[in-house]
Amino acid sequence: MSENIQSTLVEDRLFPPPAEFSAEAYIGDRKVLAELCARADADHTGFWGGLAKREISWDKPFSVVLDESRAPFFKWFTDGELNVSYNCIDRHLASRGTRPAILFEGEKGDRRTLTYRDLHTEVSRFANALKASGIVSGDRVVIYMPMIPEAVIAMQACARIGAIHSVVFGGFSAESLKDRIEDAGAKLVVTADGGNRGGKALPLKAAVDKALAGGCPSIQRVIVYNRCDLQPAMKEGRDVWWHELCATVPALCEPVAVGAEHPLFLLYTSGSTGKPKGVQHSSGGYLLHAIMTMRWVFDLRDSDVFWCTADVGWVTGHTYVAYGPLACGATQVIYEGVPTVPDAGRFWANVQQLGVSIFYTAPTAIRALMKFGDEIPARYDLSRLRLLGTVGEPINPEAWMWYHTVIGKERCPIVDTWWQTETGGHMLAPVPGCIPLKPGSCTTALPGISADIVDEEGTPITTPDAGGYLVIKKPWPGMLRTIWGDDDRYVRTYWGKFNNRYYLAGDSARRDKDGYYWIMGRIDDVLNVSGHRLGTMEVESALVAHPRVAEAAVVGRPDPIKGEGIFAYVVLRGERPAGGVDVVLTKELREWVSEQIGPIAKPDDIRYADNLPKTRSGKIMRRLLRSVAAGQDITQDTSTLENPAILAQLKGEV
Ligand code: WT7
Repeated sequence: MSENIQSTLVEDRLFPPPAEFSAEAYIGDRKVLAELCARADADHTGFWGGLAKREISWDKPFSVVLDESRAPFFKWFTDGELNVSYNCIDRHLASRGTRPAILFEGEKGDRRTLTYRDLHTEVSRFANALKASGIVSGDRVVIYMPMIPEAVIAMQACARIGAIHSVVFGGFSAESLKDRIEDAGAKLVVTADGGNRGGKALPLKAAVDKALAGGCPSIQRVIVYNRCDLQPAMKEGRDVWWHELCATVPALCEPVAVGAEHPLFLLYTSGSTGKPKGVQHSSGGYLLHAIMTMRWVFDLRDSDVFWCTADVGWVTGHTYVAYGPLACGATQVIYEGVPTVPDAGRFWANVQQLGVSIFYTAPTAIRALMKFGDEIPARYDLSRLRLLGTVGEPINPEAWMWYHTVIGKERCPIVDTWWQTETGGHMLAPVPGCIPLKPGSCTTALPGISADIVDEEGTPITTPDAGGYLVIKKPWPGMLRTIWGDDDRYVRTYWGKFNNRYYLAGDSARRDKDGYYWIMGRIDDVLNVSGHRLGTMEVESALVAHPRVAEAAVVGRPDPIKGEGIFAYVVLRGERPAGGVDVVLTKELREWVSEQIGPIAKPDDIRYADNLPKTRSGKIMRRLLRSVAAGQDITQDTSTLENPAILAQLKGEV
């Protein structure tokens, strides 16, 4: 990460938008964008209120744009009523019912096209299946699915009847699934027997069974989609097949109007403490943010084929797969598998064959594919591409240049989009028709988003390139509303630091002389592994839950592909293994963490020590551990160490 910052500090290349792109762009003139931003600055609620009237089909129009009476529990379009699924599907039927909404490609090469009319039928049917299962407005439904159209159908079906979905990433373990089901108090789980990933059928229903065997008393029903013919055991009275249930329910389901503030979904994300937070999003404000950023940042046109490669288990797969593209009536690609099956050309093959024009992925994927060389993408016709995007972590300039030249053939702007699970949609990102790009910078704030960098006291930092806290100074429609069941934690985590004045993003950033933002990293104990957030405490809790582990400290270490890798220091109960190495135990602990959280959380490396380096007040010296993990020289003061010999142990010296 710090290497990244060093290299971005000297990055001064500027890539103005290609003239052909600007000529056709949604916003192709910097003056127009500046006016939009100025209008939003001058009249924040008027600006967002106007867009909400224009872009959303309301069942009942709103009269209040923003209610700040219980700040920081902000409410947007409070007395308005809408249905998100209606806005994503029904309202397009007359004008584009036969247009493909989803071009699906399975990992094995199987294809399906769903038009908006098809989607309407499938979503309505599944909404009735949920109703027939006893789900009513406000109930929580957990979705644990592979990346297939049915995942989106299930989400849309929830929205159609006012149920609140909580999607759990299919890569999370049974244990993580159980925690999320219990925290949400979900009544129903939607899953599949399995999904195709990496050339294998990854079982999902088996993990659901394991989660439910260990608790989850609120669950009354499990609906199982048959994707891989794995023939899982079905529990009498609890489990039903998707296709059997859908065959028994009516095909029509009227969308139910809900209040604009009605929760659309919960999505669990890691924080600096052990327990993931259920980030709660709204219906009206969230949808508006999704729609506006599809236009401003992705410059979406009717002729586009949009592909966001994110799984629906992450927020990117919510805003830019399940909701944003559909709300705009777009055609989008959904791909089930990994980028390297059957070979590292799969993404580019999909782009060619499905005619993708807008492609949005993560820096970690770009770096991984870059490793395979330029010859692989050169085999494919990528000429339909006109816009590229990245999300999840800062992109290193080298990967940016590869993306720009080898994939975009120097024709396609790259939108580097900074946002978070909590923000609902893009916050800092270029408007590609008019903002010149700098590799590694997410450029500037979008209209109506008032970002700033402040110091410890909350005073704005105006000196170029001086780092500080990234904050958002005014509420915005797509913002999270609270943490499910924990209003205090919501206030403490995001608003406490600056006395309820600013939203604290948890990232540090700098702004250069041209006002461009450069994200520098997290300020809390949160890791960014392959563009996904993991709390160090979460991994530590998993480690100490193992009977042989007494204490653990986890830090991130720069990783050429993943951005950050996980490095764990472990103190065992009893003797430290000879030489600090124990291959068998290390393997066991890695598997253990994988079972507790998911494969994404597996430590890359584990080192054993007699104790952990602590300050006098008993705080683990994380910065020191980070230096050790990165193999850097120790510059910290180590004079307070109880047992200086452990430094050698931590470094792996015998
Ligand atoms: C954290 C949010 C938003 C969807 C993906 C991750 C980092 C995200 C960027 C970017 C630099 C980025 C931040 C942020 N991040 N996008 N373009 N440049 N850093 O969502 O799991 O909620 O993580 O990801 O650190 O706070 P998330």
